[in-house]
Amino acid sequence: MTQHATRRKSLVWIVLIVLALMIGWLAWANLFRELPQTLADDSIEEFFKYGSIGTEDAAGIPFWIWLVLPKMFPEYLPAPGGWAALGFNWEQGRELPVGFSKKTIGFDRVGINCAFCHSGSLRADAEAAPQIVLGAPATTADILGYQRFLFASASDPRFSAGNILAAIAQVTELSMVERLLYRFVLVPQTRAALLGQKADFAWTDTRPYWGRGRIDPFNPVKVSILDTPVGDTIGNADMEPIWNLRPRVEAGYAFHWDGLNTDLGEVFISSALGDGATPKSVPLDDVQRLQDWAMDLAPPAFADYFPIDQALAAEGKPIYDAECARCHAFGGALTGQVMRLSDSAWEGGQTDPHRAAMWTPEAAEAYNAYADKYPWDFSQFRSTDGYVSVPLDGIWLRAPYLHNGSVPYLSELLESPDARSKAFYRGFDVYDPMRMGFVAEGEDAARHGYWLDTREKGNSNVGHLWGTSLEPDAKRALLEYLKTL
Ligand code: HEC
Ligand code: HEC
Repeated sequence: MTQHATRRKSLVWIVLIVLALMIGWLAWANLFRELPQTLADDSIEEFFKYGSIGTEDAAGIPFWIWLVLPKMFPEYLPAPGGWAALGFNWEQGRELPVGFSKKTIGFDRVGINCAFCHSGSLRADAEAAPQIVLGAPATTADILGYQRFLFASASDPRFSAGNILAAIAQVTELSMVERLLYRFVLVPQTRAALLGQKADFAWTDTRPYWGRGRIDPFNPVKVSILDTPVGDTIGNADMEPIWNLRPRVEAGYAFHWDGLNTDLGEVFISSALGDGATPKSVPLDDVQRLQDWAMDLAPPAFADYFPIDQALAAEGKPIYDAECARCHAFGGALTGQVMRLSDSAWEGGQTDPHRAAMWTPEAAEAYNAYADKYPWDFSQFRSTDGYVSVPLDGIWLRAPYLHNGSVPYLSELLESPDARSKAFYRGFDVYDPMRMGFVAEGEDAARHGYWLDTREKGNSNVGHLWGTSLEPDAKRALLEYLKTL
């Protein structure tokens, strides 16, 4: 071989290597390069509403696809109005609703965070603008509706690169590299990922709809994380608030409706995993920051929104002390403990058993073994056969009531089960300060709400008979006192 030819050959190699490096860099920069989020400010509230808890990595949706889907497939939403039709809280002028995060990992992706389910809203009347309350249960959000919208869109033949790029072109101009990326990688991959999730969620088709403000919190975890069977369990559960966690931690109270864990750190990290973060993507420092904030987050005061008859409330206090405090006041002998459904202290007051039965000993064991090789670990998951006597702080905003959200008004919880609503609308955010709960009947409620039928499995409104045999005057006084908590 001549010297000349050797030189030419090595030149070709150099060019090829440089090209490969460039393509490699381009691929890395456009698919995997992680950039810090830019939020409007550094406050913890801003982070809670829009910050990343690591769900964009594996479960994120490419931003531009997420943005155009409601325009492309409005027929799969429950009503007109884009994403807002699913009951998300949307602050004026924001790119995303509260509870959604945008993060660049190669490309812009949308994930969800804790505020998706732990920020509520209320209005004094149907004309008023909703007031968002951080840490409150998200009573209007249709979480299963969101999933099903995504699944239906991905199953539609119109979910194609050509159609999606045409829809994106109406709202922004992508660079050529981005267009290629969307056409050949992101659209097909997103479609495949959503169809995979649709198969994972097939079990939801055979049980009662979650409805607004409810989810089945742990059956999805069994399927996607633990590989344990769902069986015929139904875990439909009302959202819980995440305020005032410090007194709960200090007293060693159990968390989640069935008290499946008493370690708040484990509850926080497992919540992020349940939302789609992976053991590698979960940002431990940020999750700790959220936990520190929620420790002292105060529940909203009823009196800041509606008047309280203080004299009547004062009459109600001794009734509360006598009838309720031992299970519900901070410091009560039974507060924060699991009341086993088999316990005679329930006095025949057992509520619907499905949610407790959903979290099996097998699932608890699998979660405790799940993270053994990480710097954090789970060891406190357990299966119980009952529900926690929850502290009643901010109880006015936690309607509908009981773990399955089967009683629309607090006033109704003080009536015997056969006098409680058999069916009602959940998901409307106009508040009724007299009955204490979100308006659950009438045209407006019907337009915004999900019709919850308490005769369906997992939705029963029976049990919790405490207070039901009080005299009407005593009930009125007790109810007024409950407004002060
Ligand atoms: C998709 C909705 C959803 C998201 C997102 C979500 N949660 Fe929850 N969370 C719930 C529901 C529903 C419950 C009650 C579930 C049950 O036990 O049946 C709950 C319960 C809790 C509790 C227990 C409260 C108590 O007093 O027992 C804590 C703490 C909590 N969540 C923290 C978090 C954190 C932290 C995040 C984010 C990392 C998060 N959650 C994300 C729906 C959600
Ligand atoms: C012996 C214990 C005990 C007593 C006494 C008791 N409760 Fe309860 N309470 C519970 C348990 C356990 C739950 C959870 C049941 C469930 O969610 O299915 C609960 C749930 C509730 C809830 C629903 C909380 C929510 O966020 O939806 C309210 C409200 C409530 N109780 C009010 C009262 C009032 C008012 C009294 C007094 C008249 C009272 N309770 C007496 C044990 C008790």
